[in-house]
Amino acid sequence: MQGRYKKFDLTDKIAVITGASEGIGRDMAIGLAEAGADVIICSRREEKLLAVKKSVEKTGRTAETYVLDLQKVSEIAGLKSFIKTKTDKVDILINNAGHAVTKPAWDVSENDWDAMVDTGFKGLFFCCQAVGSIMREHGYGKVINLSSTFSKSIVPGRSVYAGIKAGIDHLTEALAMEWAPHGIRVNALIKKWTAGPNRTVAG
Ligand SMILES: NC(=O)c1ccc[n+]([C@@H]2O[C@H](COP(=O)([O-])OP(=O)(O)OC[C@H]3O[C@@H](n4cnc5c(N)ncnc54)[C@H](OP(=O)(O)O)[C@@H]3O)[C@@H](O)[C@H]2O)c1
Repeated sequence: MQGRYKKFDLTDKIAVITGASEGIGRDMAIGLAEAGADVIICSRREEKLLAVKKSVEKTGRTAETYVLDLQKVSEIAGLKSFIKTKTDKVDILINNAGHAVTKPAWDVSENDWDAMVDTGFKGLFFCCQAVGSIMREHGYGKVINLSSTFSKSIVPGRSVYAGIKAGIDHLTEALAMEWAPHGIRVNALIKKWTAGPNRTVAG
């Protein structure tokens, strides 16, 4: 564990992070490893995940990569099977992956809608269900869903994104209530917008 994370000791915890190939997900994977966790990192682009794996391993912790498209629920079932071949427990799930299209509501196509909702909302729910079911077997787990300030406030061009993030907040509360008796805490993290060099998602 590296010094700056002493307060947040995660030694030997297992964390699953979606959308870990870049941006916030990548940084979280490395940060969790610096705090002592072994990580399972997922996204669609294997070469990007392998680069993150290398960075994680420099901290002395392990990283397993799993390539999946969150828009396909069958691939999320595959993630659960993969996790079970590597470990019998998961302590932390970070539902970070998201897809954003910035367009006036008039111009949002069905494809735009499906990409945003299936990745950021449907995919998030089925990740909670798949990984949460592993947590339930051990009566312990922490789920963190990436929300946004746009769940509470809005700007033009972000109607669908804002709706998804508001939905995530409410879904998080519903799951927190349903899963507390199983020792699983579910929280949403609201992050304020910051511009990044390669960000497809912001806000
Ligand atoms: N950036 C901000 O200022 C900000 C503010 C508030 C909230 N947030 C939230 O924080 C999260 C991360 O934001 P970010 O800016 O770091 O995003 P980003 O840099 O665009 O990264 C998005 C990640 O999601 C993955 N992803 C996208 N579609 C996917 C799919 N269908 N299946 C699997 N993985 C998929 C991408 O990997 P692949 O392309 O390899 O699949 C990538 O790793 C999002 O939920 C976002 O809404 C961000």
